[in-house]
Amino acid sequence: MAILNILRYPDPRLRRIAEPVTEVDGAVRTLIDSMAETMYRAPGIGLAAIQVDVCRRVIVVDVSEHRDALQAFINPRIVEQDGLQVMEEGCLSVPGIFEPVERARRILVRAVDRDGHEFEREADGLLAVCIAHEIDHLDGKVFVDYLSRLKQNRIRKKLEKQEKLAM
Ligand code: NI
Repeated sequence: MAILNILRYPDPRLRRIAEPVTEVDGAVRTLIDSMAETMYRAPGIGLAAIQVDVCRRVIVVDVSEHRDALQAFINPRIVEQDGLQVMEEGCLSVPGIFEPVERARRILVRAVDRDGHEFEREADGLLAVCIAHEIDHLDGKVFVDYLSRLKQNRIRKKLEKQEKLAM
């Protein structure tokens, strides 16, 4: 396990489309463990492999209060969704920015677990938002894409400035 470096928006590597996992092997399980450690350390409630520069379809989430309900999804996809909700979202790749985004209120996700078994999970509220946000990452999408052009430009400038100051 290791703490992995998290890419920051507007890093173009966040725009790649992640590749499906064809075999859940030790490398995938180690990736999940390292992603979980990185997410908890950050701290955050979700992380996609693309954010740690691994171009594979793997996400981890934990929206529990006590941070003891880790869920890992390999090759996740939303097979059903309904309703709408607006929640303030943030992202470990877009530090310090929180903006409201509209997403489905309830989703049904199909994925593979760390033992290679297919499963389905229904989620609503914050968990639904978190899973949908992370699946977006696997398709090269970041939550700021849902905001107005003006807001996107402001966020980009702000983060590029921070990046320069940090160097
Ligand atoms: Ni994110």
